[in-house]
This record gives sequence, C-alpha cells and structure tokens, in this order.
Amino acid sequence: MVAAETHVKRGHPIMFAVLVLFAAFELSVSAWLTSRFAERGDQSNQSEADRVHLLLFTSAFTIFISLMFSMLFYQAPTGSVLTSVASHFVVLTVSWVLWTSGAASITHLLKGGLNCSLPHQEYVYCHQLNALEGFAWICWALNTAMLVGIVIRGVHAVRRGDGYRGSLV
Ligand SMILES: *[C@@H]1O[C@H](CO)[C@@H](O)[C@H](O)[C@H]1NC(C)=O
Repeated sequence: MVAAETHVKRGHPIMFAVLVLFAAFELSVSAWLTSRFAERGDQSNQSEADRVHLLLFTSAFTIFISLMFSMLFYQAPTGSVLTSVASHFVVLTVSWVLWTSGAASITHLLKGGLNCSLPHQEYVYCHQLNALEGFAWICWALNTAMLVGIVIRGVHAVRRGDGYRGSLV
C-alpha cells in the first residue's frame, strides 16, 4: 500500500503535466485554425469549423481542470473532497467524453487522416488538421489511462473502507 501511494503521489503530477502539455499543443493548433477561419473564412464547410471549435473547447477545459487538480493535490493530497477519487472520476469522465467525441469527429471528417501530398485538397490547412487529429488521440489515450488509474484507486479506497469519497492517496 505504501508503495502504491508513493506511485500515486509521483504519478499524479506527472500524468497531469503530460496531459497539459499535449492539450496545450491541441489548444494552439485549434486556436490558430479558429482565428484563420474567422479572418479568412477558408474553412471548407461549417462542419470543419464546428469540429475545430469542439477541440478548442475540449483542450481548454482539460488544461483548466488539470491545473485545478494539480494545485489542489499539491496543497492537500489527502485533505479535501475536491481531491477525492469521486471528484477525479467525475471530472475525468467528462473530459474523456469530450476527447472521445472530439477525436472521433475530426477523424471522421478527415476520413481517417488527410494525405497532404495529394493535389486539390478540399482543406486548406492539411498538416494542421492532421496534427489536430494526432494530438486529440494522444490526449484521449492519456485521459483513458488516467481514468483507469482512478478506477483502480477507487477500488482500493473502497477496500480500505473509505468509500469513493476517500482521498486518492
Ligand atoms: C499520398 O498521395 C501520394 C500522391 O498520390 C502517394 O504517392 C502516396 O502514396 C500517398 N500516401 C498515402 C499514405 O496514401
């Protein structure tokens, strides 16, 4: 148990930091595309703009909650209901749903991914759209791994007799 708690204490900031890093890449690409579309109106259709906006929202949301949890966890890893297994589970489930729909919808739009060496692309920002899809799936995978980790900790918390409101460590 002591070893597992040490893993959680070390792993928690690392996982959230890596998630913030990739969500920041996603944020910068989606924000850049959003401003291009607004300035030049060169999205191929509204559906492309909508999917980019969803990913912009998702990456901003993820960065926000990750910084919140990192700060709260740093201040009081065991003390607060906000750092409980339950609150992590609820918030990470929301961001998981957002990443799943965001990544799936951009993948669907690009029919799996664009071949940027083909001429006459329907989309102006071929490489950026592919990057957007790639970073979205990386964030989805990180979010999935973290959710699995939280569920495992939740099982431990219940076994320990703390219930799901128990702290993460
Ligand atoms: C992309 O298109 C180019 C030009 O038609 C082709 O040579 C290349 O094999 C394609 N790449 C993929 C991954 O389909």
